[in-house]
Amino acid sequence: MKTVILHTDTDPDYAQRASQVLKNGGLVAIPTETVYGLAANALDEKAVEKIYLAKGRPSDNPLIVHISSFAEWEPLVQTIPEKAKKIADAFWPGPLTIILPKSDLVPNRTSGNLATVAVRMPAHPAARAIIAASGLPLAAPSANISGFPSPTKAEYVIDDMNGRIDMIVDGGDSAVGVESTVITFAGDMPEILRPGGITPEQIEGVIGKIRINSAVLHPLQNGEKAESPGMKYKHYAPKAQITIYTGSKKGYFRLLEEKKAEGIYALCFQEDQANCPVPCVTMGSEKDPLSQAVRLFDALRELDEQGAQKVLARCPDETGVGLAVCNRLFRAAAFRFFYEAPILGLTGESGAGKSTVAAFFANNGFAVVDCDQIARQVAEKEEIQKQLAEAFGQDICQNGGLNRKLLAHRAFSSEEKTALLNQITHPAILRQTIEQALTFSRSGKPVVIDAPLLFSTGLDKFCDWTIAVTADEKTRLLRIMERDSISMEDAKKRTARQQKENFAERADQLVCNDDNTNYRNDLMSLIERIRSFDEKNKTRLP
Ligand code: TXA
Ligand code: MG
Repeated sequence: MKTVILHTDTDPDYAQRASQVLKNGGLVAIPTETVYGLAANALDEKAVEKIYLAKGRPSDNPLIVHISSFAEWEPLVQTIPEKAKKIADAFWPGPLTIILPKSDLVPNRTSGNLATVAVRMPAHPAARAIIAASGLPLAAPSANISGFPSPTKAEYVIDDMNGRIDMIVDGGDSAVGVESTVITFAGDMPEILRPGGITPEQIEGVIGKIRINSAVLHPLQNGEKAESPGMKYKHYAPKAQITIYTGSKKGYFRLLEEKKAEGIYALCFQEDQANCPVPCVTMGSEKDPLSQAVRLFDALRELDEQGAQKVLARCPDETGVGLAVCNRLFRAAAFRFFYEAPILGLTGESGAGKSTVAAFFANNGFAVVDCDQIARQVAEKEEIQKQLAEAFGQDICQNGGLNRKLLAHRAFSSEEKTALLNQITHPAILRQTIEQALTFSRSGKPVVIDAPLLFSTGLDKFCDWTIAVTADEKTRLLRIMERDSISMEDAKKRTARQQKENFAERADQLVCNDDNTNYRNDLMSLIERIRSFDEKNKTRLP
């Protein structure tokens, strides 16, 4: 079949020509403000049948009927309840679809054999002009091959539908980018079956409390019935396999870095692009769900165009239109999530009371990875000892053991020597620290990495949050004197030698551990914040 392509800005008679095709029982892809729709006469079973064929759509998935005036609504349904009327008045024309018990006028083919019918009045001027010119209610699902992302540009409709339908009307890019909000009045309470361009908050502002169907953000459980057949398991799916990372932005980059060698792609926010270690496609701005809605389906198609096989996506926030973005993205990913419990980096000046703070975290359910302990283990390794002996003299290894005092004496004698020691030991220490932290985190236990050199070793980049423990100088010196049984003078010398880490500037949170116990309140509220972040991430898991 040859598909005629018209442009709303260069073909002034597009509405007439499209309506002619529709009146003859043909198929026309039309622009709407949400996504492109594949339209046919909703009252003609044979025409509607062609939609299912062209899309490869399962026959039990009902279609939305599009109208251009309020008068066209009544004949399609049994009665219009007050609340339905109110939201139609508030949001039509626009991205809202209302489900009500259907009248006999609507064929079963259109309603997928359900006793209800979904109706929407689109806002796009071209859609309205075509409906009005045809004088028909138009059944129109999104104009994509069933299961693929919905088309927000005429090019994508052409990709999917060229040769399969009579006509495509190009009316520019869709402004909303995700499909309409679908709300049903068939039950005891109005319920959102599919979130979209109109948010639950907007609807509640007009008619009060509504329900949100549990399948909006979660897969159907075994045996559970889909209230909206379109919400069945896999949907909006690109060819690439998408996994959604539920943790922090830093955790996301950490995982991308780890998977870089596997050729992974990133589906991230535009703010992430500059630092992204792998090829990426962006889905709007992190703080702006409207921009994410506009971009999401495009981004999914772009990933396929770029040949992405595996994709790691950031998890959008679900507030406002973000609920619709999450709903589509979670389905595109077939509810595949990557979850890690939070990883914290803990550091602080010598004598500031870092160990006390680490113990506090341990008492509150965190695993503690102790870098000093790992450093000692690393120095036990034969391969490391060989390198140390070459650098600092064979006599530092005696009777198969390491003379730590002698090593310390030589290694801390100058800055160059200290750097050499670090060069030998740090890579192994880092590797082991990260490995231990990830093992805990991926088994669901939050982790604190106790790392004196958190920042200078770059370990901070690996942590979701960083915390620096501070205390005033006198307190620190007294603590060192007591801990190591040394004089004030020696304690001063020791702290002077230590690397300056610029904790105050670099840490996400400072905890002041002077001799009072106030720091416990600060810590407790931090732990609560981390817990609720973690709890939310966990709710994503199927
Ligand atoms: O924004 C939109 O709504 C776009 C544009 C073209 O208007 N259309 C659209 O249609 O997204 P479609 O067919 O891709 O999605 C319609 C959704 C499906 O999930 C379908 O199962 C559900 O609405 N639906 C339609 N009629 C229903 C009914 N009577 N009961 C329950 N769900 C229904
Ligand atoms: Mg669709």
